[in-house]
Amino acid sequence: MNINRRTFLKSSAALTAAMATPLSSAAPSSSRTTPPSDTINVGLIGCRGMGWGDLSNFLSHKEVRCLALCDIDSEMLSGRADEIDKKYGKRPDTYADYRKLLDCKDIDIVVIGTPDHWHCLQFVDACKAGKDVYVEKPLANSIAECDAMVAAAKRYNRIAVAGQQQRSGKLWHEMIEYLRGGKLGKISKVHVWGNFKYAGMAPLGPDTPVPQGVDFETWLGPAPKVTFNPHRFHGSWRMFWDYGGGLITDWGVHLLDMALWGMDVQTVPLKTLAAGGRFLLPDGGHETFDTMSVTYQFKDFLIEWENNAGVETGPYERHYGLLFRGANGTLVANREGWEVYPEGDRVLPVNVTPNGTDHAAHVTRFLECVKTRNPETPCTIENAALCAKYAHIGNIGVRIGAAALVYDDRARTFDLAEANPYIRPAYRSPWKFPE
Ligand SMILES: NC(=O)c1ccc[n+]([C@@H]2O[C@H](COP(=O)([O-])OP(=O)(O)OC[C@H]3O[C@@H](n4cnc5c(N)ncnc54)[C@H](O)[C@@H]3O)[C@@H](O)[C@H]2O)c1
Repeated sequence: MNINRRTFLKSSAALTAAMATPLSSAAPSSSRTTPPSDTINVGLIGCRGMGWGDLSNFLSHKEVRCLALCDIDSEMLSGRADEIDKKYGKRPDTYADYRKLLDCKDIDIVVIGTPDHWHCLQFVDACKAGKDVYVEKPLANSIAECDAMVAAAKRYNRIAVAGQQQRSGKLWHEMIEYLRGGKLGKISKVHVWGNFKYAGMAPLGPDTPVPQGVDFETWLGPAPKVTFNPHRFHGSWRMFWDYGGGLITDWGVHLLDMALWGMDVQTVPLKTLAAGGRFLLPDGGHETFDTMSVTYQFKDFLIEWENNAGVETGPYERHYGLLFRGANGTLVANREGWEVYPEGDRVLPVNVTPNGTDHAAHVTRFLECVKTRNPETPCTIENAALCAKYAHIGNIGVRIGAAALVYDDRARTFDLAEANPYIRPAYRSPWKFPE
């Protein structure tokens, strides 16, 4: 792929400046009297997938050590501890109960890589224990949990970031800078899409005994009690309402985040129109919608989300991505790059390819915030909460079959009574919703 040279030089110079400094100029907080010692000690909760990837990025920094790991799957836990021992020469402590990991006084940062239904409790408890936190996206599995997490980060004065790593990607910073430059003219619509085969599941197979070494009761945690089914467990839990929200909370938060950032949106939408169902694979094991369209209305533009699970073709030959439709041209983006398609000759074509990894940059920038006690992390908990709310509002709209839905973020209610029970999940005893 090529990039227009003049555009590249201009945007890369400005980007270098943007990446060298935090995105906000807010003064660092003084929650700690001193920054963590030269060594930064990290503990990971949830070691299988993304949490492990996050930890690897942390450990690529020479000042970072992993002191402890926690997982409810003992085989996973000991395997990961062995890997760290082999690579770094020191085996971390291992725990099946995350509260024991939080008791470790020497841990500075906790990484949360558990399924979405666990994020809120573990995040709030980590804040309470005085830890800084890297929590995976989506921030939480409900609107009320998002609010509780924002409140906890503030109340306990923690430095926290959500794993929406595109906020630290050069590619995306260049895109935002281009959008801010106004070359596209008036933008009337942002279309966001995610088409992924994995989210359209085969019919659910039979329940099985809980695998040896797995504490399934704790995996369920605050979610309702159910019998064990391997298709609803590691990795695939995201297609079941009690643990995740399907493609819109999985890929949607990454891409909607870029749409909200691009359009500088700081509030929930004025109105949401949502429709969908399990149309493509009606017999599939997934509970979440394989086919879904959501339109978020603003004063003078729309943001649309569309997902199709079970297939992988999409607009502009991209199976996921977003486009900003402007009067002078259309900007199309995903992690593989972004391009501008001009309306006639109103704007020059642009073609930008990725440069550097979003994940590594995100962790590096978060570590810098921890060291300087700067709460303006590359993806603040407020930012992640807003974006997750967009995903949840879309899902709730389809779940209740509403033609249109208005969420009042101050009053914390929908205009339709039947939507309100979805705001806050009922936690299963002994787990208590963090008030
Ligand atoms: N930022 C990204 O690009 C990205 C990519 C993939 C996943 N994610 C997010 O990362 C999180 C984890 O997703 P995944 O795909 O790695 O899931 P996964 O199922 O592969 O891994 C989750 C791990 O958490 C463990 N776990 C569950 N409950 C636990 C508990 N109470 N205490 C300790 N451990 C527990 C599981 O045993 C498992 O090892 C999700 O929120 C997901 O949305 C982010």
